[in-house]
Amino acid sequence: MLFDLRPKQRREDIFDREREFKELEKSVETYPLSLLLGIRRVGKSSILRAYLNENPGILIDCRELYAESGHITKEDLIRELQSKGSLLQRIISRFKVSLNLKFLRVEPRDASLRDIFRELNEIGEKTGGLVIAFDEAQYLRFYGSRGGKELLALLAHAYDSLPNLRIILTGSEVGL
Ligand SMILES: Nc1ncnc2c1ncn2[C@@H]1O[C@H](COP(=O)(O)OP(=O)(O)O)[C@@H](O)[C@H]1O
Ligand SMILES: [Mg+2]
Repeated sequence: MLFDLRPKQRREDIFDREREFKELEKSVETYPLSLLLGIRRVGKSSILRAYLNENPGILIDCRELYAESGHITKEDLIRELQSKGSLLQRIISRFKVSLNLKFLRVEPRDASLRDIFRELNEIGEKTGGLVIAFDEAQYLRFYGSRGGKELLALLAHAYDSLPNLRIILTGSEVGL
C-alpha cells in the first residue's frame, strides 16, 4: 500500500506525515481558510483525502474540472458540487439530523453558487463544520472570464459570512 502510485485515502497508509496531518486539523479548526502547499508528489492530495475520510467535507479536483474543456464555468462547478449530493446526504444522516437539500438537487441553471454555499453552510451547522476542499486550486484561475475573480469573491463571502464552512486549498504551482 505504501508504494501505491495514487494518492492515499487513509491516514494509516501515509508515512511520517502525522505532524502535517495534525497541523491541518488544527488549522481547519481555527481558520475559515487553510492552504496546503508543497511541490508536486509531496503528498498533499493524500493528506487531504485522508483528512476528508475522517472529517465531514467534500473534495473538488480542480484539475479534473479544468481538463474537461480547458476552462471552468459556473455550471461546471455547480454540477460538480451537486454530484456530491449523495455523499452529503450520507454525512447528514451520520449526524442523525435531517435537512432538505434543495439547491444541491435542482438543475444547475436553477441554482446559484451562493444558494449552494448557503446550503453547505447549513449542513456545516449541523455537523460541526463542513470542509470544501479544492485540490490543485491554481486551476481555478481558469474559472469564469476574469481569471477566477468571481470565485474569489464567493470565497471571501464564505470567509466572512458562512461560519460553518471551512475551505481548504491545495496547490503546487505558481498561480495559486
Ligand atoms: N507520506 C507518504 N506516505 C506514503 N505515500 C506517499 C506519501 N507522500 C506521497 N506519497 C505517494 O506519492 C505519490 C504522490 O502523492 P500525492 O498525495 O498525489 O502528492 P501531491 O498531491 O502533493 O502531488 C502518491 O503515490 C502517494 O501515494
Ligand atoms: Mg495532488
